[in-house]
Amino acid sequence: MPDSPKTIRRGDYAPPAFLIDTVDLDFALDPMATIVRSRLAFRRNPAAAADAPLRLDGEGLTLLEARLDGEALPESRRQLGADGSLTITDAPDAGILETSVRIAPERNTALSGLYTSGGNFYTQCEAEGFRRITFFPDRPDVMSRYSVTITADRARVPVLLSNGNPDGSGDAGEGRHWARWVDPHPKPSYLFALVAGDLVNVPDSFTTRSGRKVALNIWVRRGDETRCGHAMDSLIRSMKWDEEVFGLEYDLDVFNIAAVSDFNMGAMENKGLNVFNTKYVLASPETATDGDWQGIETVIAHEYFHNWTGNRVTCRDWFQLSLKEGLTVFRDQEFTADQGSRAVKRIRDVRGLRAAQFPEDAGPMAHPVRPDSYIEIDNFYTPTVYQKGAEVVRLLHTRIGPVAFRRGMDLYISRNDNQAVTIEDFVGAMQDASGTDLTPFMRWYDQAGTPELTVEDSYDPATRRYTLTLRQRTPPTPGQVEKQPLPIPVAMGLLDDTGAALPTRLAGENAAQPGTRVLLLDGAVQDFVFEDVPAPPVPSLLRGFSAPVRLKGVPQERLRFLAVHDSDPFVRWDSGQQYAAAFMLEQVARVQRGEAPGFAPALADAVANTLASADADPAFAAEALVLPGEGFLADQMEVADPEAIHQVRRHLRRQIGTHCGAALLATYQALTETGPYRIDGRSIGRRSLRNACLAYLAAAGEDGVALAAAQYRAATNMTDQLAALALLADAETPAREAGLAEFHAKWRGDDLVLDKWFSIQAMSSRPGTIAAVRALYAHPDFDLKNPNRARALIGAFASGNPLHFHDSSGEGYRFLADAVIALDPINGQTAARLIGPLGLWRRQWVERGALMRRELQRVLDTPNLSKGSFEKASKALQ
Ligand code: ARG
Ligand code: ZN
Repeated sequence: MPDSPKTIRRGDYAPPAFLIDTVDLDFALDPMATIVRSRLAFRRNPAAAADAPLRLDGEGLTLLEARLDGEALPESRRQLGADGSLTITDAPDAGILETSVRIAPERNTALSGLYTSGGNFYTQCEAEGFRRITFFPDRPDVMSRYSVTITADRARVPVLLSNGNPDGSGDAGEGRHWARWVDPHPKPSYLFALVAGDLVNVPDSFTTRSGRKVALNIWVRRGDETRCGHAMDSLIRSMKWDEEVFGLEYDLDVFNIAAVSDFNMGAMENKGLNVFNTKYVLASPETATDGDWQGIETVIAHEYFHNWTGNRVTCRDWFQLSLKEGLTVFRDQEFTADQGSRAVKRIRDVRGLRAAQFPEDAGPMAHPVRPDSYIEIDNFYTPTVYQKGAEVVRLLHTRIGPVAFRRGMDLYISRNDNQAVTIEDFVGAMQDASGTDLTPFMRWYDQAGTPELTVEDSYDPATRRYTLTLRQRTPPTPGQVEKQPLPIPVAMGLLDDTGAALPTRLAGENAAQPGTRVLLLDGAVQDFVFEDVPAPPVPSLLRGFSAPVRLKGVPQERLRFLAVHDSDPFVRWDSGQQYAAAFMLEQVARVQRGEAPGFAPALADAVANTLASADADPAFAAEALVLPGEGFLADQMEVADPEAIHQVRRHLRRQIGTHCGAALLATYQALTETGPYRIDGRSIGRRSLRNACLAYLAAAGEDGVALAAAQYRAATNMTDQLAALALLADAETPAREAGLAEFHAKWRGDDLVLDKWFSIQAMSSRPGTIAAVRALYAHPDFDLKNPNRARALIGAFASGNPLHFHDSSGEGYRFLADAVIALDPINGQTAARLIGPLGLWRRQWVERGALMRRELQRVLDTPNLSKGSFEKASKALQ
């Protein structure tokens, strides 16, 4: 890196020097030479310094012409900066700036700005892609009204879309045509979108509760029309839910969704024209797993909900990203919870948080939900900003209750509509609506790291008093050594020795309360004294996972008790997981001492109990059956041991599969589908339970593997087919090669399914997997330029295969670094995102850590590294 890239700091925020009231854009589309003409009505911002110049961001633009108030701007009054920006000297306080630039969408492999995919045109502007389309103050606190005219070849580009409502179209001569779009709502540039090409639409409509009819369209490649039903259904349910639960109605005449197979992220909430990764739109029973169906519902809802939390009320600057992302994830989580099983949704979300956010918070990239600084903002679309941000919103919801929370949302939106605001504005609205002082809660946004919550308790039979002592501590994170105590809402209850709920009365209260109550721990340590407790109780803590903390030190016998008796399904599930995790970690220690791992009959009992009552809630049973994952266990260890962890987990799976073989087989057989494929919650739950049983049976030996092979052949849906193939991919059986070859031959024409074929092999635990992954990298169907494919192989290997990624030869690390170095010049954003697993070197043995550092250094030494990859690699090495 010649010059170290610049660090942007939250404290340096200054309002924009100029505001742009209206933007008129004119695109003459051509893959290699698109001309973008822009007309900006600017005026000096009264809130900013009076002498600041008019500066417009730009990146890789070829400036053809610039005019100020109708006159050509002489070169002496316009400066092109080394960073690509354009500065106008002596700009008047208000005026019209017209520019004309040339860009080459076909050459844009970064997939930021305007690019082509399969011959069609798409844009991605968040966070800073708009500056790759035209000169503009590309920051979210500049909100403008846009009108857009698009001209293109009629035969090759029949569909022309942008934000807002359609406003005319026609013939442009010479085989070209045009269309015009007007968006009545002011918006920041990151919400601009253009989609154009040979697309077909799946239409529907929605009538809002005030009676306005909205035209809905999903735009896809010809042939994909039959796979949009679930996305459309999810959209309509989301629109209805937001009206019912938050009173929020859609505000344009049309809502368009376009699906594209080359996309850096999941999807994008551009006003009136969402752009989606095809992965989150297209589904049929034959091609999509149940997980894919659920992902579609979640992402469709998420992007739709952004229309109010993100678009109508947006972020002042990118440090406030969680203002829209944390809140919108919270909203999509609530939506899904209302559609099916709230408990199962919560379990899955917490599993995800622990798998991705906890390690991030304990590693070199740890940052607060509201970061203090960044080099490349694209690196901060993280589990911390999204998932932990949602947890913090949930914590406020728990603290003030649902009624005050809804009032707070109304207040937040009415106060801040059409403005770019900060997290203080959100918390302030919640505070004013609830009459509760929420200032201490701001610390959740500004302090990184996962708090550890520990419990001690004592019972005094003489006074019938029970004292619960809660203690918190947050470990230091890079750049934040000293930590303050956080306000932690602890939803809890007490159980008697039969497992029945005890009413609770805290000292000073007049009457006992039934059911769950919320304690607020706001100091480093605090005693909660309960009166009239007849006998020593068992506390059930953190019901529903009421705060994103690590609850530590609950004795094994209490975990076993809670796993069976607690009224809260989350605590039941989690206690089972924590019990198993503690046992597994003991076995890891044994393996490290050279002893054989043991077996706990209690684990087999738990599986037997789960199977016996599985019919009541198969989805919950499936969650309870799965042992804590290798990553979760590694995250519990100061220094991880991926081989020992893998060995222990494999051993226990085999033991459970053997001990409980008959019950597992009986459940498996009882769940065999007979009717047509359905995707309601119960059917999904039945399939996941059945496949969880199959996994244990396959772990137990040949009969189970044969059962997997039979399921693979008989499967009529992708969920069952893929679950079976994943088991075969891990096994030593001729059915393995046959299955993989057959799957490839059958699906090689389908990108999204072929991604699964790559991932399954990348995550295999078989010996020789690294060589197999290298061979797949050279496979004719591998395409580094396609982010889904790159993630399906490289990401799945590095994040989903700890055993082989951490191979002591260092070959796994070398593969990842090679891939990052190859991808970085093509697509720096996706390359930077793949670096993460190398950053956790401090949690590995010294020898491994050294190998990981060597590869990080090799990435860092690469000439012309993108600033995103520079930031990830350099922070990881610190
Ligand atoms: N706002 C989008 C979403 O959460 C994500 C866009 C991220 N884009 C990026 N370049 N990092 O739905
Ligand atoms: Zn989002």
